[in-house]
Amino acid sequence: MVLVFHSLSDVPAIFSGIVPFIAQAYFAGKPRWTPEQMPDQSGRTIIITGGNSGIGKECAKILLQRNANVYLACRNQDSAESAIIELRELTGKQAKYLHLDLANLESVKAAAEEFMSKESRLHVLLNNA
Ligand SMILES: NC(=O)c1ccc[n+]([C@@H]2O[C@H](COP(=O)([O-])OP(=O)(O)OC[C@H]3O[C@@H](n4cnc5c(N)ncnc54)[C@H](OP(=O)(O)O)[C@@H]3O)[C@@H](O)[C@H]2O)c1
Repeated sequence: MVLVFHSLSDVPAIFSGIVPFIAQAYFAGKPRWTPEQMPDQSGRTIIITGGNSGIGKECAKILLQRNANVYLACRNQDSAESAIIELRELTGKQAKYLHLDLANLESVKAAAEEFMSKESRLHVLLNNA
């Protein structure tokens, strides 16, 4: 990080921004919201890009537990189907696979068309990938 001081009068303004940023990064404190507080998601359709692993899969688990209609939008079908089986064992709910490679605009268009052929509304797009 490079700090440029144009005059001494800049110093208080620059530090008034940096100090809260550093404090938040190093002394974040306890979260004020946890997944247990998430209300029921029945009737809501949610796409999670890259929902086959990591944070995306964890979000999928929590949303399925809250009865959301969850699509895992993934580029690797085998990996997505393994995640769907694991999520069904964990939650008793069935996520759906949507083929999506975000590095390929043809794939993005095809994924949008496939989704629209199956659902009338999208409530949440979780841009995780
Ligand atoms: N983990 C952290 O501490 C952290 C902190 C801050 C921000 N984040 C952000 O949170 C998000 C998830 O993090 P993560 O740690 O859970 O990552 P991760 O485990 O690496 O998962 C990334 C997911 O994105 C998918 N993906 C990557 N490129 C794709 C593409 N072209 N098309 C479709 N899917 C694609 C991957 O699919 P494949 O399995 O096919 O590779 C994978 O499912 C990322 O955006 C990351 O930058 C993470």
